[in-house]
Amino acid sequence: MREARQRRDPADSPLAAPPRLSTAVGRFVLGSLAAVLVVVVGGFFALRTVTIDEAKRGTRELVQAQGRLVEEAGLTDAVLRLEPAAVARLDKLVQDQVARGSVARVKMKARDGTILYSDEPALIGMRFEIEQEEQELFETGGVEVELSDLSEPEHRYERSAGELLEAYTPIRTPNGTPVLFEIYERLSSVNASAERLLGALAPPLLGGLLVLLIFQVPLAWQMARGLQRGHREREGLLTNAVEASSQERRRIASDLHDGIVQDLAGVAFGLAPLVADADRRGSAAEATALRGAISRLRQGVRDLRTLLVEIHPPSLETTGLEPALNDLLSPLVSENITTELHMDDSAASGNGSDALVYRVAREAVRNAFAHGAPQKVCIDVTHPREGVTRLVVTDDGRGFAPEERERRAGEGHVGLTLLESLVTQARGRLDIRSQPGQGTTVKLEVPAT
Ligand SMILES: Nc1ncnc2c1ncn2[C@@H]1O[C@H](COP(=O)(O)OP(=O)(O)OP(=O)(O)O)[C@@H](O)[C@H]1O
Ligand SMILES: [Mg+2]
Repeated sequence: MREARQRRDPADSPLAAPPRLSTAVGRFVLGSLAAVLVVVVGGFFALRTVTIDEAKRGTRELVQAQGRLVEEAGLTDAVLRLEPAAVARLDKLVQDQVARGSVARVKMKARDGTILYSDEPALIGMRFEIEQEEQELFETGGVEVELSDLSEPEHRYERSAGELLEAYTPIRTPNGTPVLFEIYERLSSVNASAERLLGALAPPLLGGLLVLLIFQVPLAWQMARGLQRGHREREGLLTNAVEASSQERRRIASDLHDGIVQDLAGVAFGLAPLVADADRRGSAAEATALRGAISRLRQGVRDLRTLLVEIHPPSLETTGLEPALNDLLSPLVSENITTELHMDDSAASGNGSDALVYRVAREAVRNAFAHGAPQKVCIDVTHPREGVTRLVVTDDGRGFAPEERERRAGEGHVGLTLLESLVTQARGRLDIRSQPGQGTTVKLEVPAT
């Protein structure tokens, strides 16, 4: 069977406080600044990708043009044998016409990976493994461009040049031997272009966002203030409603007390001598009828006084919480329901939460009596920890399912719902647990002020 655990999140309550004005606007501004940051950082990386693609296209064309130049003007078969004179001739051509501007390194590799030439002399004659794609270029021709992985040993002399794009293409020596011609181009210019583009785009973009922000901050401010005003109004209405209802109860209680209760008590008092008179006259039937009437009148007065306690509870400040709770339980005793009331000594001493504790206890006891048909009802008031008052009302009645409560609330029976609002307002917690056939427990925890 499903347990009807009916504690509600205070945030769901209509009385949950809205965020503070500065917090709400601060959150809005922070959110907008985060969006601006995403636009700037995301924009930079997007532009960088576009610029790198653009740079790759440029490097591709450059390696092809310079490969042709070297093939026609500087490459001899003697370079394949690393002959110093041939290498020196090639070097002069490279230094004069190739290794300039953004080109940071030039290399030429044989098919087995031996470096036949580089403008870094230390590399000449060294051998590095040739990657699969480079091998394929020897067969297919064409150009390959990629970002250099500077951690590779082959690139140890290029590390100081920063990020590099490497491009390679096969060229041929006069006797037809293919060699791989490679140039490395600096990428610093790519970042600079991305920054330039972003610099051009940023002012209108950021300006637009700023204008949006300037228009929206007052709106956010107004909305937050509207929420707070609404919250204050709801609080005020609830307080007025509670106050108005207790004023009305006070008025009815005082009218009853001063009017009919006094009159009936007076009539009963006035009839008493007539009984003695009838007895003296020996009129037994009259005396019995009068006794019956007096006793019914006194019972009526007692019932009315019980009703008065119901309508307008005794002032908690003067009589204290314990007698007030005892009074709540007394109508149950007369219905042969077992009742128990436990109170911590500290809880009995009275504090600012007594009114709410009484209010919750009254609704819980009334509900148990009206809906639960219990055999036993218990009230416990304790101070489980410093600054907290706890009230637990349990009954062993028929219990209820959440659907039943929802259905009844739809018909205007909102006793428990109103309690939840009051408790949330007092920054307390109300926990209502019930299950059909298993009784009901209402637990309140509230700051003891
Ligand atoms: N102790 C209980 N035992 C059995 N059923 C209960 C108990 N407490 C509440 N209920 C069920 O939950 C419903 C809602 O209770 P709630 O106090 O909100 O409204 P109500 O008592 O019906 O009407 P109101 O309190 O507005 O006069 C009740 O109608 C009843 O069906
Ligand atoms: Mg009720």
